[in-house]
Amino acid sequence: MSLTSPRRYWLTGAGSGIGAALAEELLKTGAHLALSSRSPAPLKVLSQRYPGQVLVLAGDLTNSQTVREIGEQIADAWGSLDTVILNAGTCEHVDARQFDHSIVEHLVRTNLLASSYCAEAALPLLRAGTAPHLIGMASSVTYLPLPRKEAHGASRAGLRHLFESMRIELAPEGIEVTMVSPGPLNTQPTKPSDLSMPLSWPADKAARYILEKLRNRPLEITFPGMFMAALWPMSNLPDRMVLAIGKRMVRSSPPIKDRP
Ligand SMILES: NC(=O)c1ccc[n+]([C@@H]2O[C@H](COP(=O)([O-])OP(=O)(O)OC[C@H]3O[C@@H](n4cnc5c(N)ncnc54)[C@H](OP(=O)(O)O)[C@@H]3O)[C@@H](O)[C@H]2O)c1
Repeated sequence: MSLTSPRRYWLTGAGSGIGAALAEELLKTGAHLALSSRSPAPLKVLSQRYPGQVLVLAGDLTNSQTVREIGEQIADAWGSLDTVILNAGTCEHVDARQFDHSIVEHLVRTNLLASSYCAEAALPLLRAGTAPHLIGMASSVTYLPLPRKEAHGASRAGLRHLFESMRIELAPEGIEVTMVSPGPLNTQPTKPSDLSMPLSWPADKAARYILEKLRNRPLEITFPGMFMAALWPMSNLPDRMVLAIGKRMVRSSPPIKDRP
């Protein structure tokens, strides 16, 4: 019998993609996982495959009351958390020529506000945990303004600022904060990809990469390397040059006009 108790995680967005692959990898190590996504079905499958290791806590994380209840269920079951991975999120593209604020609203709610609700629920549990670690999912879109990424970039940049500021205040309490910033990966090859997702990294490769890096608790995890190597120097160029590069990336088709 192991002398140390298994590490306890809350992992959001565990229903598909990187989150599902992270869940699988962590469960294989014997960790205990509270899993969230809107759809309970994939979480239940994991709970059946790894009996006694999984708390299924499905719900829409954009609802602050739902998140509060999920936090209460974790508190009742475990009383503490050691690691929280706030991976749930989404991406949608804006066409600035036919600007639709509802896309911004949706992404800010899903990527930024939901993560802030989760942080509020998680922090008291992390304070009671062992070597606590909070992980937020940002994106490479926060390094450079890119066409069609207005809403995704805004939501992730807000999340980055939130977590990087919290990191400073949480440090004296021993709670470490890591940001994960994937590049444009097509982690679900069965779903149709678009031009903004040229790099096919299977979700399990992305998950293994993240978990390997998390061991050292870095402030930031970026990937894939080739894409980041190109992006970093671009992010330091003067604004006019960044604009010129961005313009070349705009799709050439004209905006769709309403017919008279
Ligand atoms: N793949 C990339 O290139 C890339 C790049 C930058 C950032 N990211 C971010 O990295 C994370 C993982 O990426 P991925 O490719 O694995 O994404 P994914 O396959 O679309 O998975 C997203 C997960 O979040 C859950 N989710 C979405 N909205 C939710 C909500 N309102 N409440 C609760 N759960 C919700 C989804 O489950 P349900 O639908 O069942 O709720 C799903 O489990 C995401 O946050 C993504 O936006 C990805």
